[in-house]
Amino acid sequence: MLLSVIGCGYLGAVHAAAMASLGHEVVGVDVDPERVRALSAGEPPFFEPGFEELLRASLDSGRLTFTTDLSAVAGSEVHFVAVGTPQGVDGAADLTYVDAAVAGLAEHARPGSLVVGKSTVPVGTAVRLAAHLTARDIALAWNPEFLREGFAIQDTLKPDRIVYGVADGDTSAVDRLDAVYAQALAEGVTRLVVDLPTAELVKVAANAFLATKISFINAMAEIAEVTGADVTALADAIGHDARIGRRFLNAGVGFGGGCLPKDIRAFAARAEELGVGHAVGFLREVDAINLRRRARVVELVADAVGDLAGARVALLGLAFKPDSDDVRDSPALDVARQLRAAGAHVVATDPAARHGAERLLPELEYVVDAATAARGADVVVLLTEWAEYRGLQPADLEPATRVMIDGRNVLDPAAWRAEGWVYRGLGRA
Ligand code: UDX
Repeated sequence: MLLSVIGCGYLGAVHAAAMASLGHEVVGVDVDPERVRALSAGEPPFFEPGFEELLRASLDSGRLTFTTDLSAVAGSEVHFVAVGTPQGVDGAADLTYVDAAVAGLAEHARPGSLVVGKSTVPVGTAVRLAAHLTARDIALAWNPEFLREGFAIQDTLKPDRIVYGVADGDTSAVDRLDAVYAQALAEGVTRLVVDLPTAELVKVAANAFLATKISFINAMAEIAEVTGADVTALADAIGHDARIGRRFLNAGVGFGGGCLPKDIRAFAARAEELGVGHAVGFLREVDAINLRRRARVVELVADAVGDLAGARVALLGLAFKPDSDDVRDSPALDVARQLRAAGAHVVATDPAARHGAERLLPELEYVVDAATAARGADVVVLLTEWAEYRGLQPADLEPATRVMIDGRNVLDPAAWRAEGWVYRGLGRA
């Protein structure tokens, strides 16, 4: 099929390359000429395992091109909208880019084609946008994505489920999306056809649930801290109940990234607009618990060093999660910022996110690895659970004072204590 993808950020670029790898002819459109140049040259503008190979193979096949010229979508049968919806005023989603993309498509897409929203939007957006397109006989569907950074290709080509939101009785949109996703459907991926508002809600509800799960266990960590209980053992025990499940029950410094924090705030803001803010009032609490964990790490560091002013703090991990160079709303960066504000000297390292962090927070000292960061430190703080930090042994680090604050609860407390370290986790006795 002839497809276009409007917005070639993380989601759009991966989607475009993945669709071309399935045999579709894809044109990716982005307003940023530098991004278009890089993608056209096979240079990924972000870190994602396997993406460079996929991008290059799709470019080499001749089925994938990138441009800044929106009129290039004129030949496409299906147009995916994958532009960003950043956090705007009072946590509400800023829809400037979505509105501009749909206005542009209303002008350049051919009558009879289908626009498919993938961006995460406040519920009710699709119905509003459809009105702009139907006047030109262009249909609209919503097809949320659930891709996780680090697993973006697998999550795009073989997701847990595919959701189509379509206007009442639009079987033609369903048929066309079935043709786009023919391979995944043939492999048995479940597809659910719902109405437009449900499709929009599926995405934010899923992210709200995941964020709530993390904040729930982090709330238990707060209880564990004043009772001597161990939150990791608690998570193992409750996680054995199949109705609860062990995944997303890792207590620590909390969630960050480009999706969960922004999506729960936008959801709460949208519910308030709709007059049902009380229904998701708990999401404000989920956000507050999450932010308190960052402050707790700073408190543990202060406890360890006595006075933060002038203390030398080694910080292991800057990305919001391992296998990513993404520092958007990263808990680690927030902790670093708070430590700096209190006068600490922060020596930071990360296998992939150092340069991104340095642009946002130039006042830290950045070094190549954990051993260098820890040398001479008053305290070592682990904030992103990269495999190389999980595998650290006490003898690998030579700080001035042997204190390890494990902000992700991934090290074995007994092993570190046996070597004379003070070990502090989050919610661990
Ligand atoms: C998330 C959703 O998982 C994905 O479905 C959606 O499409 C986009 O948002 P992502 O942002 O890539 O994906 O990260 P994810 O793996 O979900 O982790 C989010 C954050 O939660 C990370 O900061 C991670 O460290 C934290 N987390 C995760 C925990 O603190 N504890 C856990 O148990 C799991």
